[in-house]
Amino acid sequence: MNIEQLRADTPAVAQLIHFNNAGAALMPAPVIETMTRHIQLEASLGGYEAAGQCAAELENVYGAIGRLINAQPDEIAVIENATRAWDMAFYSLPLQPGDVVLTSSTEYAGNYIPYLQMQQQRGIKVRVIANDEHGQVSLPALKTLLEEERVALISLPVIATNGGPVQPIEQIGALARAAGVLFLLDACQAVGQMPIDVHKIGCHMLAATSRKYLRGPRGMGFLYVERSLCQNLEPVFLDLHAASLQTSNTYMIRADARRFENWECNVAAKLGLGCAVEYALAQGIEPMWLRIQHLAGYLRQCLADLAGVTLRDTGSLTSGIVTFTHQRNSATQIQQWLAAQDKRINVTTSTFRSTLLDMQHRGLREVSRASLHAYNTETEIDTMIAALDGLPSV
Ligand SMILES: Cc1ncc(COP(=O)(O)O)c(C=O)c1O
Repeated sequence: MNIEQLRADTPAVAQLIHFNNAGAALMPAPVIETMTRHIQLEASLGGYEAAGQCAAELENVYGAIGRLINAQPDEIAVIENATRAWDMAFYSLPLQPGDVVLTSSTEYAGNYIPYLQMQQQRGIKVRVIANDEHGQVSLPALKTLLEEERVALISLPVIATNGGPVQPIEQIGALARAAGVLFLLDACQAVGQMPIDVHKIGCHMLAATSRKYLRGPRGMGFLYVERSLCQNLEPVFLDLHAASLQTSNTYMIRADARRFENWECNVAAKLGLGCAVEYALAQGIEPMWLRIQHLAGYLRQCLADLAGVTLRDTGSLTSGIVTFTHQRNSATQIQQWLAAQDKRINVTTSTFRSTLLDMQHRGLREVSRASLHAYNTETEIDTMIAALDGLPSV
């Protein structure tokens, strides 16, 4: 990988060490240029007129996302964030009373709350698949649940927001397919970080966001729905983009995945997302994944040698999200201390509110989270470790 070029495309790295890529990564220059150009076009032409001029470029966004995850453009919906994309899939499922939804202990609260709502409203049951000895979904436990329960859906994140394992998604997908059960994947922290191929995984639906490892703008995300499922899945919300009026009494829902979209959107951000996907593909997802794992491995090694620090990541395969606690200082103190360094260091605090089950399971209320991207360097990691070494006692 050309790290110098990656960093030249990311001007903020001159004054900032950004280890909050799982929150929102730094956008590369081409993404910023694409969005700025479009806002200027809107200012000079008018919003609708500017969108009209970019029609082909807007269409390409679907193709780019398709290439990123090995899907067809008509299987992609561009939606304002991963949560709404996920909601559009989940709430559209015809879940019946007694249907079981299986998830992982690493589930994001934003997804777990809808399970509980559907439990209350429709009488579905939510079951958390037990973990194996490494802390990731136990495949034998999943197999047993599939045999013994009336499972309608498996739904879980590839990578949790608070570190933890990269789930064995291809094996989970194979079990789901064999059992004839739908598989909804939250790839929010995975797209742009690691190779994601919906056919290899065997998931039926996948939701993701733009601003994290993809390095796109905020307020953008997307949903993949397998073509054969798409036409049988009636969106929970419809508008005049998702459907069209035929007569005063009838309407027709679009055939493609855009039935899950709504009409108005941030066009500059949509173009920015397309550009971010093209940028990531040009770098190569596989080399970026290798580099992110290498950097995260180095950071974990350095943290393990620091007095008072406990690494908190679990799983036999870990990601670029590195989590730890300090025996003396709280995660908020660590975040503030690092942000106050001469060269600001951005890490964040993951609390039990985002991943209640996992945190409860591990007896944690909060962890410090340093999430690395390919544009980060060993030198930046050394700087953070030196700063942590000088952490004041409180
Ligand atoms: C695992 C996971 N799923 C879903 C989301 C929600 O994404 P968005 O904020 O784009 O809706 C996040 C955000 O942090 C996440 O980490």
